[in-house]
Amino acid sequence: MNPCISIFLRDWTMTDHRLWAREAIRIIEADFQRSADTHLIPLPMPGFPGVELYFKDESSHPTGSLKHRLARSLFLYALCNGWLRPGAPVIEASSGSTAISEAYFARLLGLPFIAVVPASTSQEKIAQIAFYGGQSHLVKDPTQIYAESERLARESGGHFMDQFTYAERATDWRANNNIAESIFSQMRFERHPEPSWLISSPGTGGTTATLGRYVRYRQYPTRVLCADAERSVFFDSYKSGDRSLQLDCGSRIEGIGRPRVEASFLPDVIDAMVKVPDALSLAAMHYLAGRLGRRVGGSSGTNLIGALIAAQQMHAAGEAGSIVAILCDGGDRYATSYYDQGWLKSQGYQLEGVIEAVTACVEGGKPLPATILREGI
Ligand SMILES: Cc1ncc(COP(=O)(O)O)c(C=O)c1O
Repeated sequence: MNPCISIFLRDWTMTDHRLWAREAIRIIEADFQRSADTHLIPLPMPGFPGVELYFKDESSHPTGSLKHRLARSLFLYALCNGWLRPGAPVIEASSGSTAISEAYFARLLGLPFIAVVPASTSQEKIAQIAFYGGQSHLVKDPTQIYAESERLARESGGHFMDQFTYAERATDWRANNNIAESIFSQMRFERHPEPSWLISSPGTGGTTATLGRYVRYRQYPTRVLCADAERSVFFDSYKSGDRSLQLDCGSRIEGIGRPRVEASFLPDVIDAMVKVPDALSLAAMHYLAGRLGRRVGGSSGTNLIGALIAAQQMHAAGEAGSIVAILCDGGDRYATSYYDQGWLKSQGYQLEGVIEAVTACVEGGKPLPATILREGI
């Protein structure tokens, strides 16, 4: 017998690909090093004495939304997995915000970027994708953005990032610099440093997953409330446990609410869910913009409603404490939709009375109409 070792030389010395990936990671880490954290903004609620509300302002990222964090994580995850190659396009299915942030990182690395977005995506978002050098591929049926992304990746030899699958695992929820760690560190000197509730709304579900895992890992008593949009399957899936639910239409609150239960949506780390009518989300968005003196996106309105439901429950139980909600993006990207009276009218929204109801709740403690389906909070 002549014993013989088999050797398959794939990467004996560092290949060009490996060297390219190393440099790409350095570029992303250097970009991070030059960046600052986002602000935590208090929003007094005279209607709920003893309950203190804060908004984690993710609109102050360089690309204007909470998706800046996710895009960075997805690029690092893909690079460390060896999935990106010089010159090969990066493709993403998105309602717009993730695509803007990914276009930014693709440009940083000199990679072509194609966003597959629903045709209803705001013009402002499509313009921002183009600003960062990305191309937008519009799809009429919002439920087809995944299949279309797979096809484009296959045909172009590119990589489909697939935020809806990878958001929850690309984000390192134990490490520092994730959104949850940042919130707890910024709350350190507040009257109630450990929030009673964290409020987030689901697009991929990744942010909610990070918050839910982190509070468990760090053994905080904090609970996570996930505020869903009207046209979305997440709430019903959370209630029933059925992950096969589907809708044949897209959400009207850009960025949140999905027609299928995304892989990154992790119901077991969510303590309560609410389903917010779109008109209430948009009314709360307008109210919040008035209070902050600048426009915010629709999902921030959804989160304000989630925070009010939590505040109502705390108040009813005589509980004092704090609530932190996510301000997901700024409102300038919705100037020709949510902030355009003509557009609101064309969509059948009459928000005046609803804005009054939100104002009466925040400022006078007047309850919002809500049905508790099970005593979750
Ligand atoms: C504006 C906006 N708000 C909220 C979300 C939801 O975040 P996540 O995907 O982490 O669930 C998204 C996601 O795209 C978004 O674009």
